[in-house]
Amino acid sequence: MTNTKHVLVTGGAGYIGSVVGAQLIAAGHRVTVLDNLSRGHREALPRSAELVQGDVSDRALLDSVFARRKVDAVVHLAALLEVGESMREPERYFRNNSAGTLTLLEAMRAHGVSRMVFSSTAALFGDPERVPIDETHPLRPCNVYGESKLITERMLKWFHVIHGLRYASLRYFNAAGAAGELGEDHQPESHLIPLVLQVALGQRAKVEIYGTDYASPDGTCVRDYIHVSDLATAHLLALDALEEHGRLLYNLGNGQGYSVRQVIETARRITGHTIPAVETPRRAGDPAVLVASSEKIRRELGWAPKHSELEEIVGSAWEWHRKHPRGYGQN
Ligand code: UFG
Repeated sequence: MTNTKHVLVTGGAGYIGSVVGAQLIAAGHRVTVLDNLSRGHREALPRSAELVQGDVSDRALLDSVFARRKVDAVVHLAALLEVGESMREPERYFRNNSAGTLTLLEAMRAHGVSRMVFSSTAALFGDPERVPIDETHPLRPCNVYGESKLITERMLKWFHVIHGLRYASLRYFNAAGAAGELGEDHQPESHLIPLVLQVALGQRAKVEIYGTDYASPDGTCVRDYIHVSDLATAHLLALDALEEHGRLLYNLGNGQGYSVRQVIETARRITGHTIPAVETPRRAGDPAVLVASSEKIRRELGWAPKHSELEEIVGSAWEWHRKHPRGYGQN
């Protein structure tokens, strides 16, 4: 680490943001979290982090945050993140993810905050024309969630070119697993691994497989699952690298794809539960296969995932779900 920073983590009470915040603090940084707690959890906040409860689109609040603290960098994770929801309520995604980030960027500029690590997504790529997907792959989102993040990436580029913003955009593939006491708890839950584990806990009767006619080996969608701790580590590396680089783009995954059926099979082995599954029609906006090439961040920043096996990723999630069967704050 080069030096200690005061970092504003937006969405720091969320699944990925809480792990990023914990790692920043462990590395000696000071962390202020900005989170409206609409989807995040107070219980997931690192103990020494200050919470400012509110929205990234609240300019007056941002002005007071930046006026009262000397923030060196923003790690921006606050966003709506469900592909399915984005195809039903596009306006919320453009308002919250794209317009909200513009407000944040304007406030940063007004207060001389010139560094951002941005939580981007594999959903930028749409249905890929080749896998694994590297950073040169065309950007053609096939859902509103991905489009809302692509609009943001484009704004970041122009803020870099025109205003000198230094930024890193991290395109996450499928974040999964738990980091000790920090786990995945979305309300309502829409993600495959927690839903499968809720069946194993007896909270749901079955899991639905959204589509079995995709162009993939077993007909179900293939995703690249990356452990949330490995994902978080990349944010710290990127933050340090912004000392020397003005614009960084990285894809983050393990480079290995698993189908929906394979994930369910893995969870059956780990939990010892039969986990009944039913086949249903496709969910709107799902690309068939998303697998990352993360060679660039490995080569340039020395990023090396520590928990790349699906067994270990699902195993860590299972441990957390068993310990927190009702999620945060309800046990
Ligand atoms: N799926 C099911 N049944 C379910 C839930 C999901 O079959 O009950 C399938 C989905 O169709 C998809 C796969 O499981 O093929 C993974 O779905 P998730 O909802 O867990 O994750 P997504 O791939 O839709 O999206 C996630 C993040 C996005 C991110 C994307 C990048 O939510 O923020 O990964 O790959 F952009």
